[in-house]
Amino acid sequence: MRLIEGTYGIAVLHADFPDRIVVARNGSPVVLGIGEKEMFVASDIAALVAHTRQIVTLDDGEMATLKADDFRTYTTEGTRTTAEPTTVEWEAASYDMGGHDTYMHKEIHEQAEAVDRVLRGRIDDRFSTVHLGGLNLDAREARRIRRVKILGCGTSYHAGMIGAQMIEELARIPADAEPASEFRYRNAVVDPDTLYIAVSQSGETYDVLAAVQELKRKGARVLGVVNVVGSAIAREADGGIYVHAGPEVCVVSTKCFTNTTVAFALLALHLGRTRDLSVRDGRRIIEGLRRLPGQIAEIMEQEEEIKKLALEYAEARSMLFIGRVRGYPVAREASLKLKEVSYIHAEAYPASELKHGPLALIEPALPTVAIVPDDDLLEKNRAAMEEIKARSGRIVAVAHREQEKADHTVVVPKNEDELDPILLGIPLQLLAYHTALALGRDIDKPRNLAKSVTVE
Ligand code: M6R
Repeated sequence: MRLIEGTYGIAVLHADFPDRIVVARNGSPVVLGIGEKEMFVASDIAALVAHTRQIVTLDDGEMATLKADDFRTYTTEGTRTTAEPTTVEWEAASYDMGGHDTYMHKEIHEQAEAVDRVLRGRIDDRFSTVHLGGLNLDAREARRIRRVKILGCGTSYHAGMIGAQMIEELARIPADAEPASEFRYRNAVVDPDTLYIAVSQSGETYDVLAAVQELKRKGARVLGVVNVVGSAIAREADGGIYVHAGPEVCVVSTKCFTNTTVAFALLALHLGRTRDLSVRDGRRIIEGLRRLPGQIAEIMEQEEEIKKLALEYAEARSMLFIGRVRGYPVAREASLKLKEVSYIHAEAYPASELKHGPLALIEPALPTVAIVPDDDLLEKNRAAMEEIKARSGRIVAVAHREQEKADHTVVVPKNEDELDPILLGIPLQLLAYHTALALGRDIDKPRNLAKSVTVE
């Protein structure tokens, strides 16, 4: 192993030692499953839960030898390490399709229940705040934070964009999100008063892990917002929040996105209540959070309507997604969803930037999806739709009430302004799904993509 360079997660068999497997990890996940007189090795816990719940996750630079009734772990230098098995709580049944044709469909429909889970046991009505046990950040430290920087890739980055807005709005701490894949290469200034937050469904995305390791090396405090318990990023971080979405099998992330945005709402509320967010506003946000599962169920009832829209627009070669401020990250995520699962080109733009270029693209063949929340930017969003209509563009609005300028409106239940982004993207997951279905795509495994991107 000392001779091997680069990123790997490997399992090796030798013909002269048929009773053992040697495995090693550097950058790519390796998980051991401890059974009764049998051992398993995999790159993902998902592959093991049908056989055992006792799991050992190797660290980077660690290797193990497995025999049917024993395992030992070492550093690649040969020093013994201790590895206590942990019990995973995910049920093997979570990996069934449960009557759905695809995991994506199942996971979209699991969202009301998943959101209920991320909220469970965390709300503190007495002080109108939340308890986040694993945060490892006391109130004094929380008050000293001067900035928040959120790092993630793909969908997790988009959830981070929403999280940054929530933190700014509720806690009044300057916050922004950046792709971890860019951050790690730009020799960023690491500031001791900044709280860094790494976001990842799998907890194994190499670009995010590398950014965390670089930050830690420079002495930064890094929290993780992660779905997979015990994953590399969760272990590397100083503390964090598990998003408790349950296993997500489809390569295209849906329920984890939603649960991550809810986890950020909890963090924003917590930080806000250690600072200047009033009890009244805290209560307002808590009531909004409690409404979410019921409102997600209401969105699911519109599936047939959304399916009809998908059939109407599946012919498009390209689609534009627009939104302002709270609606913009929603537009970004919806555009990613459509492109990765249906292979239709999609572009997201801030609605405020239309006149600076993208208006030139507008014609009947380029449909626009506009995110139009009922907030203080409603009139601005309506004006953008008018500009598009004047150039014969077709519009689907995702809004809190019918929009006359749009050809179709998907009406989403209204929550508190700050929490609206959590719901606005959900009908667009269904739109992406039904478009991909109509086009006969490989929904759970889109071409050229992997669930966990554990390579550079
Ligand atoms: O496991 P992670 O959240 O770190 O994964 C990050 C991205 O690779 C992931 O979100 C990707 O963009 C998905 N295909 C989105 O559906």
